[in-house]
Amino acid sequence: MKNLEQKIFEYLYRNLSPKRFEHSYYVSKFAVSLAEGKGVNILKVQTAALLHDCAKSMTGKELINFLKNHKRKIKYFKEIIKYYPQLLHSYAGALVIKNEFKIKDKEILNAVKYHTLGRPSMSMTEKILFVADALSRDRKYKGIVEIRNLAKKDIDAAFMIVLSNKIKYVLSGGKRLCPQTVDTWNYYAKKD
Ligand SMILES: [Fe+2]
Ligand SMILES: [Fe+2]
Repeated sequence: MKNLEQKIFEYLYRNLSPKRFEHSYYVSKFAVSLAEGKGVNILKVQTAALLHDCAKSMTGKELINFLKNHKRKIKYFKEIIKYYPQLLHSYAGALVIKNEFKIKDKEILNAVKYHTLGRPSMSMTEKILFVADALSRDRKYKGIVEIRNLAKKDIDAAFMIVLSNKIKYVLSGGKRLCPQTVDTWNYYAKKD
């Protein structure tokens, strides 16, 4: 019988572009290195990280139909459908993982579900994946090395920088901000 890791790699190889496959591998490598010493289950982090973009090849329409057919309840669903359906790949990914791999573990499923938009009160595994996804070896932008180094020392500080950079990027393009991201930001923003 094939082990889970082998099954995951085969699934990703069949369903993702070579670039996305490579990205998933690099995210898992970085996520595992960040997870060490954090008191989290490394295997769960690795599984979530490898699979986080497993639904990324689906089109916006496919994502919407897939989630509607499975009667998924997603906050701001109508808004996301209208303005940024591709963001649904994280929610669809969690569903694919459940269906294809029979994984029911909430820590894994939630890390995948919230890797793009985040949510208030995220677990350490969720934060690690959120950060690793933005800082993996295949990502290249100014200042990334410094943020990577920060992530190794202080995951919460790196999380705030990654989240604020995502928001700044959307705003700099004059685009609409997903209310789920705003909820995440407002939860973690300084209270004074
Ligand atoms: Fe993603
Ligand atoms: Fe990703």
